[in-house]
Amino acid sequence: MINEYVEIVEYYDNLLTSGYFDYDDLANTLYKLLGDKRKVLDIGVGTGLLTEKMLPLADYDIVGVDFSSGMLDIAKERLANSNVKLICQDILEFETEEKFEAIVSTGGAITIVEEDQQYKLYSHITDRTKNEQLLVQLYNLLDDNGLFTLKIQGSHTNYKKEIKDGIFYEQKLEKGKPFVDKWYIFSTADGQVLKEQFCHYYCWDGEEASQAFSDAGFKGEPHVFDDEFLVFYK
Ligand SMILES: C[S@@+](CC[C@H](N)C(=O)[O-])C[C@H]1O[C@@H](n2cnc3c(N)ncnc32)[C@H](O)[C@@H]1O
Repeated sequence: MINEYVEIVEYYDNLLTSGYFDYDDLANTLYKLLGDKRKVLDIGVGTGLLTEKMLPLADYDIVGVDFSSGMLDIAKERLANSNVKLICQDILEFETEEKFEAIVSTGGAITIVEEDQQYKLYSHITDRTKNEQLLVQLYNLLDDNGLFTLKIQGSHTNYKKEIKDGIFYEQKLEKGKPFVDKWYIFSTADGQVLKEQFCHYYCWDGEEASQAFSDAGFKGEPHVFDDEFLVFYK
């Protein structure tokens, strides 16, 4: 399936915990942002790195959805002794009677990238109409005072760096409109490629993204919280 995380699974945690994201910091920021909200949906929960850091902070009731079974297998192991509900499903197909007080995404199914002085929306869902449907679906999954918060990532650029265990990580971008292609490449010090993963994103510029959230029902302008999260309110 397009944008399913398969090749990257083995090296994902190494990459993400080698300075890509700081999950302690993200969890603490979310703790402040969420206040007394406890019922949380994570769209694209991945290997559960964020959830693991959130759980000690409050008695969260977290549902994590992800369509990459390899990523979710790691999350299941990581969160084995918790009451987190992990569901292997395309978020577009996720249905429930439950309502959530917050929906979070840290680079999940859709994410925010601060680029060209705008908050662009990068989506793993490559069809415009389906993205619009997703925003409506997420709006409807929130309770009346619910919020949807997305991690703000820095501009996606080309670079190569060493991560842990002598592994090198390289990312390459090709930016078009509306699609952005990204290659994740893992190699050894002598350049032998170990794994390569390709992602094809649908990208909305800042104004289009704001309009799409507003068309889905979210209130006015989003709020930037601690320079780290963009927050949309129901
Ligand atoms: C970059 S990873 C982020 C994972 C996690 N949020 C984290 O902070 O490490 C993106 C995740 O989104 C998931 N994803 C992408 N599109 C999805 C979709 N349509 N439905 C469910 N999961 C999706 C991928 O499988 C992958 O695990």
